[in-house]
Amino acid sequence: MKVDLQGKVALVTGARMGIGKAIALALAANGAAVAVNDVHPDGEQTVGEIREGGVRSVFLQADVSRSEEVRQMIAVAEREFGGIDILVNNAGVNTAGPDRRTIEQFSEAEWRRVLSVDLDGVFHCCRAAAPGMVARRGGTIINISSVMGMVPARMQLAYTSAKAGVINFTRSIALELAPHGIRANVIAPGSTLTAGTRALFYNPEQQSLAESLLSFIPLGRPATPEDIAHAALFLAASESSYITGAVLPVDGGWTAGFTRNW
Ligand SMILES: NC(=O)c1ccc[n+]([C@@H]2O[C@H](COP(=O)([O-])OP(=O)(O)OC[C@H]3O[C@@H](n4cnc5c(N)ncnc54)[C@H](O)[C@@H]3O)[C@@H](O)[C@H]2O)c1
Repeated sequence: MKVDLQGKVALVTGARMGIGKAIALALAANGAAVAVNDVHPDGEQTVGEIREGGVRSVFLQADVSRSEEVRQMIAVAEREFGGIDILVNNAGVNTAGPDRRTIEQFSEAEWRRVLSVDLDGVFHCCRAAAPGMVARRGGTIINISSVMGMVPARMQLAYTSAKAGVINFTRSIALELAPHGIRANVIAPGSTLTAGTRALFYNPEQQSLAESLLSFIPLGRPATPEDIAHAALFLAASESSYITGAVLPVDGGWTAGFTRNW
């Protein structure tokens, strides 16, 4: 997919690997300079790959759950590149197997851990980037939610709540920022093949787990990170200039309805 992002500046959070990295590489391949954020120092590797393509990139290590780190990160990105045109809030964590509990046993620490990254992180980044976008009278914000924010699953209370929160948060800021020429939209990925999900679900030793997960997906396969990146490219580009406050599921049909009759 090709769009024209020449002269634009993007910041992608959690872009060390997985979906965030695919989005950062796709934005760069279409002409945008890209500030790569991650809490982990290996985010620098994504920067190296972008620079190999002759595109400007910097690594901004910060924990999006910490508002002061985010404020400084946005200030550095704006100083380095003159402003942010495209903000992609991708950084996210989910509850791992043993911590997946029903409401009676769900730990407060796990609730706070997930909410602080997946929802507070989006708030911190949008709040820090909005004034610069308002001053420059334009920008586009893309928040990565999940099908779990639309159709929840059991025992992932914090994740499903945070991802649902991201959807209405985004609609709220779309309303507030539209008069300033700033758009805000959500991508809701379905099950996406990353290093993490490959180890957890799409592992040949656990064939039945993959089969059970795939039974929710009418198209019968997980997304690739590039499938999600294509949606991000569209929402970043001027071709989507009339779209704001929208939720775009990229889920192989997961949220369209039931895959089986009864
Ligand atoms: N993979 C899927 O199946 C799937 C499905 C639906 C939604 N999503 C969402 O897509 C996004 C990316 O998922 P992924 O599977 O590529 O994840 P991933 O675990 O592969 O990568 C997430 C990245 O975010 C970084 N990160 C974590 N906490 C951070 C923090 N506090 N500050 C900055 N960076 C931080 C991690 O270091 C990592 O590099 C997440 O928001 C996730 O919830 C993923």
